[in-house]
Amino acid sequence: MTHTPRVLSGVQPSGALHLGNYLGALKKFVDLQATHDCFLFVADLHAITVWQEPARLADQTREIAAAYLAAGLDPARATLFPQSAVRTHAELAWVFNCVARLGWLDRMTQFKEKSGKHKERSSVGLYTYPVLQAADILAYRATHVPVGEDQKQHLELSRDIAQKFNTDFEAPDFFPLPEPLIQGPGARVMSLRDGSAKMSKSDPSDQSRINLTDTADEIAGKIRRAKTDAEPLPDDPDALTGRPEANNLVGIYAALSGETKAEALVRFAGQGFGAFKPALAEVVVAAMTPVGEAMRRYLSDPAEIDRVLSDGAERAAAVAEPILAEVKAKVGFWGAAAKMSQT
Ligand code: TYM
Repeated sequence: MTHTPRVLSGVQPSGALHLGNYLGALKKFVDLQATHDCFLFVADLHAITVWQEPARLADQTREIAAAYLAAGLDPARATLFPQSAVRTHAELAWVFNCVARLGWLDRMTQFKEKSGKHKERSSVGLYTYPVLQAADILAYRATHVPVGEDQKQHLELSRDIAQKFNTDFEAPDFFPLPEPLIQGPGARVMSLRDGSAKMSKSDPSDQSRINLTDTADEIAGKIRRAKTDAEPLPDDPDALTGRPEANNLVGIYAALSGETKAEALVRFAGQGFGAFKPALAEVVVAAMTPVGEAMRRYLSDPAEIDRVLSDGAERAAAVAEPILAEVKAKVGFWGAAAKMSQT
């Protein structure tokens, strides 16, 4: 069986979205909706692996949905929904918890980073987080997963889980082995203050990131103050190796202008950051401020966002439920095979 191409991805409602989320994820989603059946959700089950204020969580979820719409996703084409509203994710995750091996999860670097020195005080959910991610993807038999570079290891685990399920239950090709879509200069946007650290929602310094809702002045100021080095820009992207801040800024420019780094460098080779930074600020402001403005517009009508999310949840469940029914029959749960034969 060859699987119908289907795209799935998600973003956690755990803080303000930034340029890294936009380039690594949102922009790719928008490009893919023209050609693919897309399932894009707000990963609220993943968000609660660390404490989230209950009074804020629903609004944080609406904010991600507003960012999806503001970036250009069309709810008539792409299915947009909150993860917790489709119970299949959690149910399939349990089955996958029994397929995945402890040794596989022990290798996950993101758990090590997020749990830090206090592993024993982390939630169990944070540890099994990548298993839920595999369930998110395979609940829809998704074949392609657009994400930033930081999700690569989780995607490899999803493939391992799919493969082991197919082997254990003697159902070759039951699940596709999902392909990550990571490539491009926006796959790993780094902090503006430290070219060796990822741009992140959780960085305590707001100067380290460009938020989707920053004003033109804030964006220009952050770029002006961004860390750089004293060398002029080279004409060859390979010469950016060992210059993490310069490499990051050129990568951002290229990703937003739709060029490769080599193409972007043609215009700036030999020039210093005094010339490059204003050009970069212009490109970032032109791309991001309309998204921020649209986001504010969508957020002023939460009832409309709720309509989009509940309609999306219904459509998502209609796809995921029959697949879960097949999984239950494969596992051999009581009543599952009978239920399958009725449908
Ligand atoms: P999250 O919410 O941390 O990030 C959302 C998306 O943004 C990408 N991203 C970046 N890309 C480039 N540069 C950066 N600095 C940067 N920071 C974040 C992330 O790679 C991601 O694509 N586990 C996921 C959410 C998730 C998911 C899934 C994704 C849950 N289930 C199933 C795909 C499929 C996460 O925490 O993303």
